[in-house]
This record gives sequence, C-alpha cells and structure tokens, in this order.
Amino acid sequence: LKKYTVNLKNRSYPIYVKPDIYKELPQLLSEYNSSQRWVIISQHKIMELFGYKLEKKLKENNFDCFNITLPNGETAKSIKEYNRAIEQMIDFGCDRKSIVIALGGGVVGDVSGFIASTFMRGIKYFQVPTTLLSMVDSSIGGKTGINTSKGKNLIGTIYQPKAVFIDQNFLKTLPKDEVVSGLGEIIKYGIVLDFKFFNKVRNWIKDLSNFPFEEAIEICCKLKSEIISKDEMDNGIRAVLNFGHTIGHALELKYGFNKLKHGEAVAYGMISASYISFRLKKISHEQYKLIFKTIRLLPLPTLDKLDVNEILTFIKRDKKYIKGKINFVTLKNIGSAAITKNIQNKLIMDSIKIL
Ligand SMILES: NC(=O)c1ccc[n+]([C@@H]2O[C@H](COP(=O)([O-])OP(=O)(O)OC[C@H]3O[C@@H](n4cnc5c(N)ncnc54)[C@H](O)[C@@H]3O)[C@@H](O)[C@H]2O)c1
Ligand SMILES: [Zn+2]
Repeated sequence: LKKYTVNLKNRSYPIYVKPDIYKELPQLLSEYNSSQRWVIISQHKIMELFGYKLEKKLKENNFDCFNITLPNGETAKSIKEYNRAIEQMIDFGCDRKSIVIALGGGVVGDVSGFIASTFMRGIKYFQVPTTLLSMVDSSIGGKTGINTSKGKNLIGTIYQPKAVFIDQNFLKTLPKDEVVSGLGEIIKYGIVLDFKFFNKVRNWIKDLSNFPFEEAIEICCKLKSEIISKDEMDNGIRAVLNFGHTIGHALELKYGFNKLKHGEAVAYGMISASYISFRLKKISHEQYKLIFKTIRLLPLPTLDKLDVNEILTFIKRDKKYIKGKINFVTLKNIGSAAITKNIQNKLIMDSIKIL
C-alpha cells in the first residue's frame, strides 16, 4: 500500500494506491458509515465490470447503497445528466448526510464531484478512478465540472474528495486508446515538473507492453498531491499542469471527443507548447526535439487537414483567453514550466502547423 496526502488543513485527504484495494472499500469506508444513503455514480460498463460487485459487498456490510449510471463520453458532462442524477438521488431518499462514490474515469469523476459539491449545498464524496488518466490526474485535486454547448468545463467547482482509492488492477480491462490517453498526462508531469521522471517515461514508452504502470502512477500521485497542497485554487503553480491544454482543448473540440481522447489531444498540445517555448528561446532546439520525439513514440491517432484558423477560433473560447490575449504555459527547461503572458496569435498558428 502506498499513501500520499493532499495537505489542505481541515480538507486534507489521503490517496491510497494498492492493487485490488476496491475489494477493501467496505472496511476502509466503514468509519464514514452511519446508516445514511450511499450512491455509487458510474457508467453501465464499469458497473458490470466492478460496480455491482462493489455495491453488493457494501450492502453485505450494512451500507445503504444505491447506484446511478451516466452515459459514456462528454454527453455525461451535461446539465441534463447532472439534473437527472440529482433527481434520482432525491428519489433514493438522499439527504445532507449521503455520500457519493465516484467509480469511473475522468468523466464520472468530474460529474460526481460536481454533484457532491452542489447536492444539498455539498456532501462528502470519494474518488475511485478506473482509467489511467483519472488515476494519475483527474481524481486528485478536486476540479469538478460539466460542459455547455459553448465549451468544456465551463460550469464547475473546486471541491475536494474525502479520499482517493487507486486500484491499478482496474487497468486490465481498459482499452488501449484510453491507456495512451493516460500516458499523455503522465509525460506531462515529467515535462513540467521532473526531468528525471521524464527520462524514465521516455525509456518506458519505447516498450509499452512492459510499461511499469504502478511506479508511474505512484510518481504522478506524489507530484500532483504536492502541487495541490501548494495551490488548491489554481492561482499559481497549479497552472503548470495545464501545459499542452490550450491547444489540446481546441483539438478536442475540432475532432470530437470520440476521435481524439483528452490525453491524446494534450499530447499534441504539448508538442505545440514546446515549439512555442523553443521559438521564444526558453528551451533549446535539442530540448524541443527530445520532447517531440518522446511524444511521437505514443501511438497517437493522426490529425488530418488542420485548418489553423479554425483551431484558433476554438482557442479563443478558452477560459484563459481574456481580451484578445492568451496566457500560455511554456517551458523553462524540461522539468520546469512557467506562465508566459500575451502569446501572439501568429506564433500559436505556427505551432499548430507543425502537428
Ligand atoms: N478534473 C480534472 O482535474 C481533470 C483532469 C483531466 C481530465 N479531466 C476530464 O476527464 C475526462 C476524461 O476522462 P477519462 O480519460 O478517464 O475518460 P472517460 O471517463 O470518458 O473514460 C473512458 C472510457 O473508458 C471506460 N472505462 C473506464 N474505466 C474502465 C475500465 N477499468 N475498464 C474498461 N473500460 C473503462 C469508460 O466507461 C469510458 O467509456 C474529460 O472530460 C476531461 O475533461 C478532468
Ligand atoms: Zn488534462
């Protein structure tokens, strides 16, 4: 068992990493059980794989447990689905003491966290991530959110879970493109925070069949918990974790979330952001090339015919695009990043052309 802590005074919480830990949840959660309602929020496929087993075990241990399933993909992150889930919870008799268990990937985690943060003005919730991306990134840090037709995550809160339980054995059933998506975020941690880790990952991805997921997950959890402990509300250092996301989000919007997964889009976005860093003379051409080659080792879907102007219009919808100017996460080194203000549109366009 590995344990990391997000240190936030009275909102501090542990991240546990252990294979098969989900089977121990009835014991681990028992201190929170005082005959209130529990709701597992998940998706149909995940319920079939692990959720019904978990619900059964919880019920056997005197948890008054229900489940709600969300649709797959970004459609789950909508006001409609949010509202439907809230109404189901009311039908189940949930109240202010009820507790949510988010069992799934980033989609389930983001919606469940938003539900927990708003239901009856806020109830407790736990994250049980089942995708690589959610294990290394989205389940930690309390960012919750749903989308509107105008863009991603435009509605949301920062609301921390009571604990995160990471069971690497969930990865056994995860489709390959979802694994690649998670690897995109894993590489990100190396590029913006830890050169040594970047070098490790660079070697590991040369042979994906032997990728040491356990070690990689542990390092990412440690790095992310440290960042959140320093900057929960995303007013400073936490922003470096958005590296590659400005162009990444635009690519997600352009290609649709089915064609390009979040971490895959971020992988492309990181190539562009590294190129911008190189053009601004913040990193050398060698450093840029090393990042480029590393990301290119991932089996990413090919991007056909990029219309640079179109991508730019998507970038302009970004939350970070204010008054015609955009703040961008750039690199100072491999393993160190900072915000650069007022990046020129021309440079952004050049960086998209190379993809
Ligand atoms: N809150 C944050 O800090 C944060 C950070 C990064 C990304 N995100 C969000 O996360 C979302 C993406 O999350 P994701 O990449 O985990 O995708 P996802 O949640 O859509 O999951 C991908 C697919 O895998 C399936 N699945 C999940 N676990 C499985 C398992 N163990 N075996 C088989 N199938 C499984 C899911 O049902 C789904 O169809 C995006 O909406 C993104 O905006 C949030
Ligand atoms: Zn991300």
